[in-house]
Amino acid sequence: MCAAVAKPAPPPEDTAAEKLLPGEHTLPASWWTSQKVLDYEKKAIFAKSWLFVTHQQRFKKAGDYFSYSFLGWNFFLIKTKAGQIKAFHNVCRHRAYPVVRKEKGSSIVLGCKYHGWSYNTDGMLTKAPHFNEVEGFDPKANSLFEIKTHTTKQGLVFINFDNTENFTPFEEFFAGLEEEMNEYDFDDYEYHMSYELDGQFNWKTLMDGYQECYHCPTAHPGLSVAFKMETYKVVPKGNYCRHYARIVDEQIEETPEEADPDTESSWFGFGKKKTPAQPKKTKENPGGSFNGLWCYLFPTNGVNCYSPAFYSIRVLPITPSRTILQYDIYTKKGLADDKKKEFVDFLQQVELEDFNLCVQTQKNLNQGIYSTGYLHPLKERGVLHYQGIVKNMVKAHFDLEQAAGHEINPARIGGKPNSPEAQELEELCSKIECKGSNPESLGELEW
Ligand code: FES
Ligand SMILES: [Fe+2]
Repeated sequence: MCAAVAKPAPPPEDTAAEKLLPGEHTLPASWWTSQKVLDYEKKAIFAKSWLFVTHQQRFKKAGDYFSYSFLGWNFFLIKTKAGQIKAFHNVCRHRAYPVVRKEKGSSIVLGCKYHGWSYNTDGMLTKAPHFNEVEGFDPKANSLFEIKTHTTKQGLVFINFDNTENFTPFEEFFAGLEEEMNEYDFDDYEYHMSYELDGQFNWKTLMDGYQECYHCPTAHPGLSVAFKMETYKVVPKGNYCRHYARIVDEQIEETPEEADPDTESSWFGFGKKKTPAQPKKTKENPGGSFNGLWCYLFPTNGVNCYSPAFYSIRVLPITPSRTILQYDIYTKKGLADDKKKEFVDFLQQVELEDFNLCVQTQKNLNQGIYSTGYLHPLKERGVLHYQGIVKNMVKAHFDLEQAAGHEINPARIGGKPNSPEAQELEELCSKIECKGSNPESLGELEW
């Protein structure tokens, strides 16, 4: 595991070139409302990107597992007997029933409750009742479908659904991320809690807000007293973006409570006592004692490290206008309970403010009045950057399919390899437009 080499760095100064960046427009709003665009993003982006899932410290012993669903792909992570974290599609190789049915659990034998096939923590088929009587049955050819994983030196676990030869290795997709994360001592933190929000907005509506702090002075009063918002800077680094801000070192002012209209004022201005001016109350900065290390991880995730705690966010697109947000919080070892609560309250207040911005924005995006907006070249550079990756990945996949003449789903694994009969039946299915399980056999593009 890692040892922290330094505290998170302060924001870098703006260079002369950065101050002269031209402004550009957002992608059109139709990309935030179309089911076909989301279906396309699934193949073009989500099936090809390294997706952050969790921290390895959540797995204590062999057999500990957590199950997830991402755009309908059901999968689980499990700790193997050798201590590795592996990921598998939650699909029995026999007849596709889910092997794991709980959100989390622990078992070194994974038994399917349909016909009793069992797998070990490495996904190998260990039991298939009565199949020893079947000629030609090879258990080794019926292991669970494995998903590529990468665990960083800091214990952050990522997966990649891409099952093609062209997949991008983690070190290339997130070049530099692992070194940068060494500015924070993840070993000094332990799992505290998780929570989930269900939002009526597109996944990109949330990312738009996440990727800039231009809105912070207006929308986040609490955050704006904890960090010096004028120093906030988003620096794109390929498929991740580092967010910087200088912490406010001194004690901060408590947010003033709402004035009580019965004592502070009256309709006629007399007959009521004025409260004498109170000295301003101060408290310790809930943002902690050092600059943050906050990383947006394309496409939908983030890991945000503060001195009292770090938290991760998994953003799960459900429909073009519905997205689930899953937060996991890890607090500093030994942190007092009231300090934990203070940090969670601080975080949830900021998240709630963002959540409400997204709900109201999406309502307008859905109406077809607005299409694109002008972005500030520096203050909203992160938005421009990630939307550029979205655009490029969608266009590249579109070109790939056009050249191939059929749909391509990089996450597809399939089953019986090189089976002429299965291929023939898939083609027949596509001809009668039933859209079989092999999308690569489809002749027509829909989009
Ligand atoms: S589907 Fe799992 S044993 Fe049949
Ligand atoms: Fe925000």
